[in-house]
Amino acid sequence: MTDGLIPRTVRAIYPGSFDPPTNGHCDVIERAAKCFGELIVAVVVNPQKRNPMFSLQEREAMLRASVAHLPNVRVEHFRGLLADYVKAEHADVIVKGLRVVSDFESEMSTALMNRSLSDVDTFFLMSDQRYSFVSSSIVKEVFFLGGDVAVLVPEPVLRVMAAKRSSLPARS
Ligand code: PNS
Repeated sequence: MTDGLIPRTVRAIYPGSFDPPTNGHCDVIERAAKCFGELIVAVVVNPQKRNPMFSLQEREAMLRASVAHLPNVRVEHFRGLLADYVKAEHADVIVKGLRVVSDFESEMSTALMNRSLSDVDTFFLMSDQRYSFVSSSIVKEVFFLGGDVAVLVPEPVLRVMAAKRSSLPARS
């Protein structure tokens, strides 16, 4: 991308709750990191949907440990409107993953709203089919009910989840 005649790196922002990060997220991060010069993985401080199970510090630490091998990726956090954060970071594009057709409906209105607020476009990557059923919510539900999610989350995430599970009161 050029600003006038001066070529510069395209800066992309991949926002999310990451409560917790999954292999689906990490797959999008790895693929986006190949497309854009700089990728900021931006953890929303207060997800709108519900109270996060993992603190902001835990979510950021899990992501940092999971993307440490990608030199053009950094993990940050933001509060408030994504559009404001995008402008403050002088980002060129927003990146989102699309898993299934039903994701498209809400993502389309969100992308259009973000473009109208910040003049920044959203680029969508189709999730790898291995992860099309993987969401943070389903991973949490299965794991905390005793299921095996080892192939669905990065190893550092599994460790934090196991520590969280052992710190919870035992279920009767
Ligand atoms: O991982 P998630 O929960 O699907 O991520 C949703 C997220 C964080 C990308 C979205 O909720 C968001 O952008 N929140 C910031 C507040 C905002 O800008 N809302 C208006 C969107 S049009």
